Amino acid sequence: MTNAYDDAYRRSLDDPEGFWGEVAEDVRWIKKWDKVLDSSNKPFYRWFVGGELNTCFNALDRHVEEGRADQTALIYDSPVTGGMVRKYTYRELRDEVATFAGAMAGLGVVKGDRVIIYMPMVPEAAIAMLACARIGAIHSVVFGGFASNELAVRIDDAKPKLMVAASCGIEVGRVIEYMPLLNGAIEAAKHKPDNCIILQRPESKAALIPERDIDWADAMAGAEPADCVPVLATDPLYILYTSGTTGEPKGVVRDNGGHLVVLKWTMNNIYGVDPGDVYWAASDVGWVVGHSYIVYAPLFHGCTTILYEGKPVGTPNAGAFWRVISDHKVKVLFTAPTAFRAIKRDDPDGELMKGYDLSHFKYLFLAGERTDPDTLHWAEEKVGVPVIDHWWQTETGWSIAANCVGLHQFPVKPGSPTKAAPGWNVQVLDSEGVQVAPGEAGAICLKLPLPPSSLSTLWNADDRFVTSYMSDFDGYYNTSDGGFMDEDGYLYIMGRTDDIINVAGHRLSTGGMEEVLSNHPEVAECAVIGVADDLKGQLPVGFLVLKAGVTKDKSEIVSEVVSMVRDRIGPVAAFKQATVVDRLPKTRSGKILRGTMQKIADNEDYKMPATIDDPAILDEIREALKGIGYAASREG
Ligand code: COA
Ligand code: AMP
Repeated sequence: MTNAYDDAYRRSLDDPEGFWGEVAEDVRWIKKWDKVLDSSNKPFYRWFVGGELNTCFNALDRHVEEGRADQTALIYDSPVTGGMVRKYTYRELRDEVATFAGAMAGLGVVKGDRVIIYMPMVPEAAIAMLACARIGAIHSVVFGGFASNELAVRIDDAKPKLMVAASCGIEVGRVIEYMPLLNGAIEAAKHKPDNCIILQRPESKAALIPERDIDWADAMAGAEPADCVPVLATDPLYILYTSGTTGEPKGVVRDNGGHLVVLKWTMNNIYGVDPGDVYWAASDVGWVVGHSYIVYAPLFHGCTTILYEGKPVGTPNAGAFWRVISDHKVKVLFTAPTAFRAIKRDDPDGELMKGYDLSHFKYLFLAGERTDPDTLHWAEEKVGVPVIDHWWQTETGWSIAANCVGLHQFPVKPGSPTKAAPGWNVQVLDSEGVQVAPGEAGAICLKLPLPPSSLSTLWNADDRFVTSYMSDFDGYYNTSDGGFMDEDGYLYIMGRTDDIINVAGHRLSTGGMEEVLSNHPEVAECAVIGVADDLKGQLPVGFLVLKAGVTKDKSEIVSEVVSMVRDRIGPVAAFKQATVVDRLPKTRSGKILRGTMQKIADNEDYKMPATIDDPAILDEIREALKGIGYAASREG
C-alpha cells in the first residue's frame, strides 16, 4: 500500500511539471508562468518561466491582507545582549521592511542591483534581506565569522551598490567590531560600493565614514515606504557564497519563483507545521539554513519565526534551547547536530530541561552534517520527540533527503536522513556513471532536472557551474557527497568526496586553508585535512613542510599560520592545529594522500595506496599526529 510520500515522490519524478505546477498555485503570483519547466538550454533548467511575483509580498504583505496582520511574524531572542526579546507582528515587519526598502531605493538601489549584508543575528538582517526582495535587489549575506579578506572576495564578485552592516556582533563574552572588518574589506576590494548603511548597536558604536556611511536610524527616519516590485520568477533573489574546492567561493544563485514555491511547500510537507505555528531554525542568517528557514520559508507559510542571537551553550548554559522552546512555544526546532553534542557534553543528564514547558515541541530536525547515532539516541531519549536528520546543501536550498513527516513519517534508521524528498531523483553511481546496487557505496548524484529552488547557476560563472556540478556524470548533478542507498531507499551520506570539511556545521574548504598556509614565507609545501572531533564533527589540521635552511622555531611558525588562517578566512574556520613534517605522503604522480592521512588521524583502517611513493612517510605522519594528540591508539 502506498502512502502520501510515495504518491508525491512518484508523481514529482513522473510528472514534474504537473506536480510543481499544482504546488505553485499556493503562492500569490502577479502573472502566472508561461511554462512550468523550460529545458531548452540544458543544464540550465528554468522553473516557472514568464511568471511574475514578489518574494517579499508573499512573505509579508499577503499575510497582512489575509488576516495575519497582528500575528507575531518574528521573535528576536538575544541572550548575548542580556536577554533582549523583541517581537514584530506581520504588519510591523511589513512596515519596517517597506521603509528600509524605501531607504535603499532612496540611495539609488534598483531591481537587479546587488546589496551585501554583513550582519550578526539581529532582526535588521532579516529586514534588509526582505527589503532587497521587495525592490528586486539581489542580496548576498556574508556570515559574520568570516574575515575581511573573505568579504573582499565577495565584494569583488558580487559588485554591490550598497552594503548593509552593523557596528558589532556579539560572541560569548566578547564584542566583535565589524567596522574594521568592513573597512578593511572595502579597501582591499577593487570594487567600491557607493554607500554603507550601518546599524549602530549600543554595545559598540562605530565611527562612520562621511559621504559613504549612513546610520540605519537616519536612513529609516528619512525614508518613504517602498512598494513591492514585480520580478520574474527566474530573476535572482539572492547570491549566497559557499566554499568551493579552491579558496574562491562559489556564488550560488537562487531564483525568486522556484524558491518561493518549494520553500512554502516544505513547511507542511517536510516539517509538519501549519500557518500560525512557531518555527525555530537555530542557525545564522549567513548560512543557507538561515536564509531558507529563519527568514523565508516560515514567513511564506504564515508561521512565527525565531531569530536567536546566542549559542546552544554558554548563553548562559546548556538549558538555553529549552528556555527558548518553552518561552516561545516552539513546535519545530531545526539545528545542527554539533549544537546537540555541545548540550549533551555540558548537561549529559538533561538536568537543565527540568522546569521548562516543552509541551508544544513536536519535532527536532538536524542537518549540516550527519547525525551520529549517539547524538540521535541522546536527543530522542531526552527530548522525547522524533529526531529527524535531513540532508541538504547550500546549492539545493532545501533538503534532498528527509523524513517528510507532513507526508508520511517513516521509522528512523540511525545514520540515515531517510529517503529522497519529492523532486529529487537521487542515484548512487560508480566512477563509470552506472548505478550501483543497494548497499554499495558510490557518488551520490541527482538526475537532472533538479527541482525548483535548486541553484540556477553560479554568479557570473556559468562555466564553473557546469564544470563544478554537471560534468562528472552526463545528465546528473554531482553532490560531491559519497554514500549509499539501502534496499528500502534510505540514504546514507558518508562524507564529501572533495576537499570540503564540515566544522560545527560550517562548510569550509581545506584547499582554501592550504592557499593561506602556502603564503607563509617559510612554508614550502602544506596539506590540510579534516580530522574527527567529538564536538564539532571535524576540525582542520595542517601539515607544513618548511623550506630548506629554515631555522626559525617550529612552534612560532605554527602560531603564525594559525593566525594567518584566522585573519584571512576567519575565526569560524577553527584552524588551531598544525604540525611541521619533513615531507608529505604522495603518489608517484605527486598527489598528496590527504585521505590516507585523515584515516591515520582518525584511527581508521586504510589500504596502503598502491601508488604511494614511499610508505615510510606514513609512519612519520602518524608520529607527527601523535605529537598533537591524534592517531594515538593504534599502530600500523
Ligand atoms: N562572528 C564572529 N565570530 C564568530 C561568529 C560570528 N558570527 N560565529 C562564530 N565565531 C567565532 C567564535 O567566536 C569562535 O571563535 P574562537 O575561536 O575565538 O572561540 C570561532 O568563530 C568558532 O565558532 P563556532 O564554530 O561557533 O564554535 P564555538 O566553540 O564558539 O561554539 C558550537 C561551538 C557547537 C556551540 C557552535 O559551533 C554552534 O552552535 N554550532 C551550530 C552551528 C550551526 O548553527 N550551523 C549552521 C548549520 S544548521
Ligand atoms: P552546506 O552547503 O553548508 O549546507 O553543506 C553541505 C554539506 O554538508 C553536504 O554536502 C554534506 O556533506 C553535509 N551535510 C549537510 N547535511 C547533512 C546530513 N544531514 N547528513 C550528512 N551530511 C550532511
